[in-house]
Amino acid sequence: MLLTSILTALILLSPALSSQSPLTDSLGTDNGPSPQSARENAQHIFNAVHAAMRQWDSSLKHNGMSFFAATIPNNTLLYHGAHTKEPVKGMEWLAFEIEHAEMFARGRGPPGRRPGGGGPGRGPPGEGPPGEGGPGNGRGPPPPFTFEKDRHSAEDEEPVQHGYLHTYRTSRPLTKLLYIDGMSAGKTSMGTLDTQDLILGNASQTQAPWGDYQRAVTLCELGAEAGIEGFLRMEAGFELILCNFTEGLEFVSAYQRPDATDDPEAGFSELSQFEYVRGVAARYHGINGGRVVLDYSTMVSAFFYGLNLTNPDPKKAVLPRLVSNSAEERERVKDDVVSLFSPARSEEHSTIDWLGITDMIVTRYSDRLQFLASGNLTNRTMLSEINFLLNVFIDYTEPSIPNSIQKCTDIYLTLIPGTISDHLIYEALSTVSSKICRTLFEVRTILFEDASATSNSAVEQGNEAIQALIDYLDWPTWLECGKCAYDEVCFVAIWPWGAPEDHENPGCIKVDDLRSRHGYWDMNGGGGGPRPKGVDEGREDL
Ligand SMILES: *[C@@H]1O[C@H](CO)[C@@H](O)[C@H](O)[C@H]1NC(C)=O
Ligand SMILES: *[C@@H]1O[C@H](CO)[C@@H](O)[C@H](O)[C@H]1NC(C)=O
Ligand SMILES: *[C@@H]1O[C@H](CO)[C@@H](O)[C@H](O)[C@H]1NC(C)=O
Ligand SMILES: *[C@@H]1O[C@H](CO)[C@@H](O)[C@H](O)[C@H]1NC(C)=O
Ligand SMILES: *[C@@H]1O[C@H](CO)[C@@H](O)[C@H](O)[C@H]1NC(C)=O
Ligand SMILES: *[C@@H]1O[C@H](CO)[C@@H](O)[C@H](O)[C@H]1NC(C)=O
Repeated sequence: MLLTSILTALILLSPALSSQSPLTDSLGTDNGPSPQSARENAQHIFNAVHAAMRQWDSSLKHNGMSFFAATIPNNTLLYHGAHTKEPVKGMEWLAFEIEHAEMFARGRGPPGRRPGGGGPGRGPPGEGPPGEGGPGNGRGPPPPFTFEKDRHSAEDEEPVQHGYLHTYRTSRPLTKLLYIDGMSAGKTSMGTLDTQDLILGNASQTQAPWGDYQRAVTLCELGAEAGIEGFLRMEAGFELILCNFTEGLEFVSAYQRPDATDDPEAGFSELSQFEYVRGVAARYHGINGGRVVLDYSTMVSAFFYGLNLTNPDPKKAVLPRLVSNSAEERERVKDDVVSLFSPARSEEHSTIDWLGITDMIVTRYSDRLQFLASGNLTNRTMLSEINFLLNVFIDYTEPSIPNSIQKCTDIYLTLIPGTISDHLIYEALSTVSSKICRTLFEVRTILFEDASATSNSAVEQGNEAIQALIDYLDWPTWLECGKCAYDEVCFVAIWPWGAPEDHENPGCIKVDDLRSRHGYWDMNGGGGGPRPKGVDEGREDL
């Protein structure tokens, strides 16, 4: 049964379901989604909702497991880099930010002749059609963090074509888009492509990470069947694979770019990579301007299902994978994604701002939990902080901890779920919220009961309980850099850039530090085929 049919069945069977009554666990038959899975994966679902269309969270939790239906409003500007000024017809990539498209707005020599001409994501030289791997059809992005002047080797002999920056404008709202979360345009074998290649694609056709043109063709074929007109993904910037440029898009302009030059006096390229990262960092917490509207109430997440999401690489255990599931299990998730675009489904539009709700929970507790866990507090300050957080939930005429925990859990969860997704998200958020509340009440009890006893052991026990909660929640807010100096950017590993420490412990870095940051992303072929030359070359530079 698909999500829609379950929904219909439930509504038919139980008109009272529009209340917050939990879904029955019988939902989870037939490889289907279940409240039980939503509770088991509660913190991951919470974090996926909080990460939606945010570069920061999605870079850290780069193996996305979720999908959302999305809309780009009318009159939204989108950018594309190319080596010709002709408007694109058919399928191509579009960027939301100029600097992202600019990376592709470069001239190029004859296809296949230029060593390393394909950046990561481009197929074997000379084999693929133009346009692989990013919001441009010139070539992939230049090897990251090497400056233009370092990269001129064999290029000089080739006839120079100019690069062009295309601007397009949506001529109607693009309402049938699928957002694939995580670092879903990161061409890695680490799991960033699992939802695309194993759920939406044909899992029996092993897909090499760099085969992005073929991937996009496969996605658009599915789109043509299912009524999906494009796919939103993220790399260093958000992008749209639009399946048909002649539908819903108006060509605005193509501006010729300055030609790359060896002359440092020209001043064109020295800072461009650094400034690109600065631009990406400006979108860490959302792409802004209402340019993408997600329908959170359509979320379909692998976390909703009873899937084995274990990463076979024990060193990457915190990152989920979809490699251990049966074809039937994957097919079930795909059916539920496709059904989001069925005509019946597109009529329902409840759209609860679940992202805003996770924000309210995170902003209430994120800093305060670290404060409580810091080991800097005396028993008095700790108790006073806990009381501040909890007193509002206690009716002192008749104190009841269970009632207070419930009140605390529900504080931001007053909305009435509509869709099946809403119910599952509700289940996850309320599990997380309840865990926070129960832990705080537990620490409060420890501190109270210890009042007469010796020492600071109560504080230590409290610290431990809060630290365990922090480990469970795993919020990306705790890795934020704070304000960097003006000559620095807050840098987290974003495909294809970054060293392992940039993933573990992001920080402010200066322009000259960027060049040495490589090694986090594994771009070896998942499919076991020969590695294309371009990728080897690109990798050297990362
Ligand atoms: C989109 O915007 C253009 C320009 O404002 C307008 O002419 C057109 O009717 C709009 N289309 C829709 C479907 O709203
Ligand atoms: C998937 O690919 C395999 C091997 O190429 C093929 O036999 C099969 O028919 C494909 N399945 C679908 C659903 O396209
Ligand atoms: C793209 O859209 C145009 C205009 O609606 C249509 O004529 C064309 O057939 C479409 N192309 C594909 C490949 O669907
Ligand atoms: C889940 O997948 C992992 C990795 O493939 C495997 O080691 C483990 O046995 C699987 N667990 C179950 C319950 O099948
Ligand atoms: C604990 O106190 C030290 C010293 O004042 C301070 O540097 C640190 O930031 C504090 N930790 C937290 C989490 O507040
Ligand atoms: C805090 O700990 C001290 C001993 O270190 C103890 O005398 C005092 O009663 C404790 N206060 C509270 C509120 O627990």
